[in-house]
Amino acid sequence: MKIWLVGAYGIVSTTAMIGAKGLEKEIVDSTGLVSELPVFNDLRKYAPLSFDFGGHEIRMLENAYEASMEHWELNRHFDIQILDGVKEELEKIRAKKGTALNCGTGIEGLGKIKTLEDDGLSLKEIVDAIKKDMQSFSDDETVVINVASTEAMPNYNKEYHNTLDGFEAMIDENKKEFATASMIYAYTALKLGLPYGNFTPSVGSSLPALKELAIKNKVPHAGNDGKTGETLVKTTLAPMFAYRNLKILGWMGYNILGDYDGKVLSYADNKESKVISKDSVLEKVLGYSPYSITEIEFFPSLVDNKTAFDFIHFQGFLGTKMKFYFIWDAIDAIVAAPLVLDIARFLLFAKKKGLCGVIKELGFFFKSPMETDVVNTHKQFEILLDWYLKLR
Ligand SMILES: NC(=O)c1ccc[n+]([C@@H]2O[C@H](COP(=O)([O-])OP(=O)(O)OC[C@H]3O[C@@H](n4cnc5c(N)ncnc54)[C@H](O)[C@@H]3O)[C@@H](O)[C@H]2O)c1
Repeated sequence: MKIWLVGAYGIVSTTAMIGAKGLEKEIVDSTGLVSELPVFNDLRKYAPLSFDFGGHEIRMLENAYEASMEHWELNRHFDIQILDGVKEELEKIRAKKGTALNCGTGIEGLGKIKTLEDDGLSLKEIVDAIKKDMQSFSDDETVVINVASTEAMPNYNKEYHNTLDGFEAMIDENKKEFATASMIYAYTALKLGLPYGNFTPSVGSSLPALKELAIKNKVPHAGNDGKTGETLVKTTLAPMFAYRNLKILGWMGYNILGDYDGKVLSYADNKESKVISKDSVLEKVLGYSPYSITEIEFFPSLVDNKTAFDFIHFQGFLGTKMKFYFIWDAIDAIVAAPLVLDIARFLLFAKKKGLCGVIKELGFFFKSPMETDVVNTHKQFEILLDWYLKLR
């Protein structure tokens, strides 16, 4: 199968490519891939464990190997022999120039960038350029995944965002101020009939107009924001308090991270999207909203090593107050990359089963799953499994 990565030279993207090519060459195993659990073992019939990659970028490096090397030099996040083993394959992956329309001030943190709008293109010309790139790469087994930097909240506009006709009028009327890059990539993918997964908290395909397009063109899509670290642990642990009728009084989560992702998120407008995405889960698991603090701060020397310090204050029998603390200390790209491959494979499975619109059953992979309030990880896994076993 083929995967088109928006943000192709990022650390999550390149780690996904290295892992995928490493799996093909049998120099790494499938640890970390949900879709390779024994219960999903016939998924290979629908979505092989073999991937070709293309994508869009705005940091115009030579190829995916150069990008991978840049991330590796900073992070040393796996054995260099793995990267050496897939060098040839990665050198062949060259991203196309993308759009960064209204991505927010965080984009400044990426250093030197090149975008389609720098060439003075209108909104329609930008959409056409993105479409041409995706079209020339894709086939019947291609999925688009957004793994670009988190963009700022969009300038919502009912007229242009709520219906497909409105969205297309926005493009025709060149109303750039209402469009963001993630909307454009999502629109283009769905327009071409390519399943789309949004691994970021950016708006992507979650606009009513784009949901309408997905149904009209019979394309499956899923998002938003990969659930990989603190939120994964939070939505796995919080149900324990609920099942034991322990009352959570307060939950503080303090996240520190470096790298490009951390730098982009250190800009207030880009950070807002992420905090909203992380913050809403407790109420959905518990049915009430305890006092909560969610912080994300840039900590350059950590690079891609994200550390979350969580403090939970809870009340038990006889009104007694108690405390629980945890520290999650993970390499962000290592926990995220396999999910990119999982999401792509399950979306292709959904397409082959004739499904379209939001695939709520893939909520297991996301912090803010679309069109469902189920965020309890245990329930989400059961839903995913039931869905798969019934359809396969
Ligand atoms: N790492 C995780 O565990 C995790 C979990 C959930 C969500 N995410 C999200 O995944 C995304 C990628 O994370 P990362 O750590 O790989 O970040 P990264 O900064 O390493 O990679 C992002 C890449 O996207 C590129 N980019 C930015 N705007 C673009 C645009 N408009 N078009 C094309 N390319 C663009 C950047 O140049 C960069 O190469 C972020 O939005 C992050 O919040 C990551």
